[in-house]
Amino acid sequence: MAQIFPRWSNKLPPLMAGGAALLIIIVIAGFWYYGSPWYSDVGYRPRQPVPYSHKLHAGDLGLDCRYCHSNVEISPVANIPPTQTCMNCHKIILPQSEKLLPVRESWAKQLPIQWVQVHKLPDFVYFDHSAHLNAGVGCFDCHGNVAQMEVVTQQKPLSMSWCLDCHRNPDMHLRPREDLTNMNWVPPANQKDYAARMKKEKNIAPPTDCSGCHR
Ligand code: HEC
Ligand code: HEC
Ligand code: HEC
Ligand code: HEC
Ligand code: HEC
Repeated sequence: MAQIFPRWSNKLPPLMAGGAALLIIIVIAGFWYYGSPWYSDVGYRPRQPVPYSHKLHAGDLGLDCRYCHSNVEISPVANIPPTQTCMNCHKIILPQSEKLLPVRESWAKQLPIQWVQVHKLPDFVYFDHSAHLNAGVGCFDCHGNVAQMEVVTQQKPLSMSWCLDCHRNPDMHLRPREDLTNMNWVPPANQKDYAARMKKEKNIAPPTDCSGCHR
């Protein structure tokens, strides 16, 4: 009997099955890559020159974030504290500590400690801390629970869609001024009303047009 399909076509079904499997693997790998910290920087946790712990200082000792990041409410950039701020305490507290040696060296030589920046937007994006804090957005919403971190870790993707998600609907992120650095604040039941009042009172209108963030 004459063959309708040539002999090599017997190989087609397994080849197609193999191709489909390969395609599935590529799709999964794609999602894995784009969803992973590798791509989005979530989880970025560089090694710092001093084993400084936010959990100890901001959590256990209860220092307010603004004791060190003192410009955050008045400037676009949240400052990293100078060595002087550490020495306010560490001239007296643990003056012999091995872990604090780089701090004492920085102090003696009058050279800043080379902290590694964790959160970083590209240069073509405009961002302003003070505008967000004055509107009532807390540190927690963008940095996570820093007061529980031994080492600061990036928790949010800092992507354009992340910014826009909040800009389109900031209601659940607006809090009273006294709670800006409170890591345990949760929106109360009447949050919608509070947000509506604040948006009117303070004229809060997060930009969603391109020129708002790309100036
Ligand atoms: C308000 C006071 C205060 C300030 C300001 C302060 N610290 Fe501390 N720090 C402490 C206390 C208290 C401890 C814990 C002491 C203990 O364990 O007995 C500590 C512990 C440490 C330790 C652990 C030392 C060890 O040997 O275990 C490091 C490292 C450290 N601090 C770094 C810093 C750095 C860097 C800064 C500045 C950015 C800073 N501290 C600012 C009070 C302070
Ligand atoms: C005693 C001083 C001190 C206090 C208090 C403090 N910080 Fe910091 N913070 C630092 C230092 C020093 C660094 C740089 C080293 C590091 O990343 O750990 C830093 C880094 C950070 C970073 C990462 C910066 C970057 O490079 O992207 C964030 C976010 C941050 N702090 C938020 C907070 C928040 C939120 C609080 C309050 C819950 C707080 N800090 C309290 C000293 C302090
Ligand atoms: C609306 C989101 C948002 C809020 C609210 C916010 N931050 Fe940030 N923070 C960012 C972004 C985005 C960056 C990276 C900025 C850049 O690269 O220009 C950053 C960077 C930082 C840095 C690093 C600055 C540097 O130059 O190394 C510190 C420190 C910091 N934030 C502390 C705080 C503290 C403390 C608070 C609360 C008082 C706070 N932030 C509230 C989004 C936010
Ligand atoms: C959790 C909520 C939230 C997130 C996340 C957030 N924003 Fe905003 N942003 C706001 C609010 C609320 C305002 C309104 C401030 C006002 O109108 O007073 C604002 C205002 C701004 C403004 C206008 C500031 C000015 O001076 O007029 C810029 C620019 C901006 N955001 C950039 C960003 C960028 C870039 C990101 C992401 C990296 C971001 N924002 C993430 C809530 C957020
Ligand atoms: C709320 C702030 C905000 C607004 C509004 C905004 N962007 Fe962005 N945009 C960002 C941030 C943040 C990034 C950086 C994202 C990153 O690094 O992953 C970005 C990145 C980009 C990039 C580079 C993309 C890439 O993959 O590197 C382009 C292009 C861009 N934006 C265009 C636009 C256009 C067009 C609009 C208006 C429709 C717009 N943006 C509105 C915050 C914003």
